[in-house]
Parts: sequence; C-alpha cells; structure tokens
Amino acid sequence: MKKSKRIFTNRKIEERIKTGIPGFDELIQGGFPRNSNILLAGAPGTGKSIFGMQYLINGSEKYNEKGLLVTFEQKRDDVIQQANQFGWDISKLEKFGKLKIMDIDIERINDRTSNDLRIIIRKEGIKRIVIDSLSTLVVNAPMYAKLSDIPINRLIANKIIISQPVVGDFFVKKFIYEFLNDLKGLNCTSLLIGESAQNSEYLSRDTVSEFVCDGVIVITFEALGGEFSRSLMVRKMRATRNDEDIHPLEIGNKGIVVHKIVK
Ligand SMILES: Nc1ncnc2c1ncn2[C@@H]1O[C@H](COP(=O)(O)OP(=O)(O)O)[C@@H](O)[C@H]1O
Ligand SMILES: [Mg+2]
Repeated sequence: MKKSKRIFTNRKIEERIKTGIPGFDELIQGGFPRNSNILLAGAPGTGKSIFGMQYLINGSEKYNEKGLLVTFEQKRDDVIQQANQFGWDISKLEKFGKLKIMDIDIERINDRTSNDLRIIIRKEGIKRIVIDSLSTLVVNAPMYAKLSDIPINRLIANKIIISQPVVGDFFVKKFIYEFLNDLKGLNCTSLLIGESAQNSEYLSRDTVSEFVCDGVIVITFEALGGEFSRSLMVRKMRATRNDEDIHPLEIGNKGIVVHKIVK
C-alpha cells in the first residue's frame, strides 16, 4: 500500500502584541503573546522604565491600544519630562484618551488598590499595562494585607513558627499570585518591571514573579572592555521560539534600540 504523504503545516502562532521597540519584536516572533504577563528585570539604571514607556507610547501611537502606566517610583511630571527627551508627548496622548499615567504614592496603597486598578482598566478600555515597579508594590504587600488572611491553622499544622519574616513572605507570594492572576483576567498585555537584586540566584527580589510570569526579559548594564554597556536577553516567552542571544541595547535620542549581535 502506498504510504500517504504527511503534510507538515506551521502551527498557528498566538496573536502578537508588538512593542514597536526597534530590534526587539523579532526576537520573540513578532511581539508579546496577547494577554500575557511579562517580567522586565534588571538593576537600577538599566533602562527598564524607558522600555516600559516606549511600549505604551508605541501602543497608543502605532497600534491603537490604550496604555496605562502605574508608577510607584516616579512623579507624573518626571515621567512626562523623561518622555519628552525622546520626543514622546505624553500630555497630548493623555488629552486624547490614548494613554493614562497614574503615579501612586506607596503610602496610599492598601488592600483595595488592586481592585481600584481593575475598575479603571475595564472602564477605560486599557489594553497595555506597565507596572513600575512590581518590586516596590510587593515589598509593601505585608503592610496592606489583612491579618485574617494568615493561614494560622496551616502554619501550626506544618509546625512553622509564626514569625514576621514567615508571615511577610507569605503575604508577598500570595499578593503576587493574586495580582498577576487578576491582570490575566483583564484581557491586557502587561509588562511588570522588576528590580533585580545583586548577587542573587533569582532575577526578581520576590523570587517568584519570574516563575509566575509568561515571559521574562533581562537587561544588564556591565563593564565590557573598560566601557559600560547595556544588553538585553529574553529568558523565557510562553508559546514562543525566542531568540536566546544577548543583544546590545542602546538608549538613543528616540528611545531604546536593540541591536543584532555580530556572530
Ligand atoms: N535622553 C536620554 N538619552 C540617553 N540615555 C538616557 C536618556 N535619559 C535617560 N537615559 C539613561 O537611562 C537611564 C535610566 O533609565 P531608566 O529606564 O529610568 O532605568 P531603570 O528604570 O532601569 O532604573 C539613565 O541612568 C541614563 O543612563
Ligand atoms: Mg525605573
């Protein structure tokens, strides 16, 4: 009997959300998978906030997707000023309802903050979210947690001594799982900025967000041959055959550009 010919078709790749950052989308088959949570990790000064802003600006200017920047790190005037340096007019985009900046004082965060954000995201039809930074948000998670959430019985059953670090760690992890899960339910593509701790085996200070997120991008800033230079690497990306090289990253006068490596 004649064997039937097998036909191989390319599996359909998930819909992609383009960042529009030159040189970046091609590393991940065209962009972030729609409705994913992506962690952008790196030390201070590596360019994470600029990357996040560029993702939102391009979203509203080129791809007709409304963006929300939630920042605990900068005041809105500083965000606007930093964006101006790259020719991005945040005030205009905000005026036309294409972008929203929320600078939230860390003191004002409480157990209702997640829910308040969810309401705004739904009401305003937000499609792209940047949280700057997840690290700042979660570090404070124990402060706005409810004491009734502590699983005292479970801790006792496992003979875990109820100490401040144990309870704090529990709240941080619980908060991250719930927060990222909530974002998933909103049909948005989210970039979560994470401050990396130095000399740690983990990429994030909370040690869990790199496992919970669908994708992880790392930016480093290192001395190479006597000069400091930035580079970017995609550590993981759900449903994606991602590039695995380390790429030079440059902050130019129009924002971030990711360069090809010369092999
Ligand atoms: N207009 C600019 N041109 C070139 N580089 C800039 C410009 N503005 C800021 N930078 C660089 O970007 C760095 C800050 O980037 P940022 O995204 O705020 O870092 P992070 O959020 O990772 O701490 C600055 O330390 C500076 O080196
Ligand atoms: Mg920053």
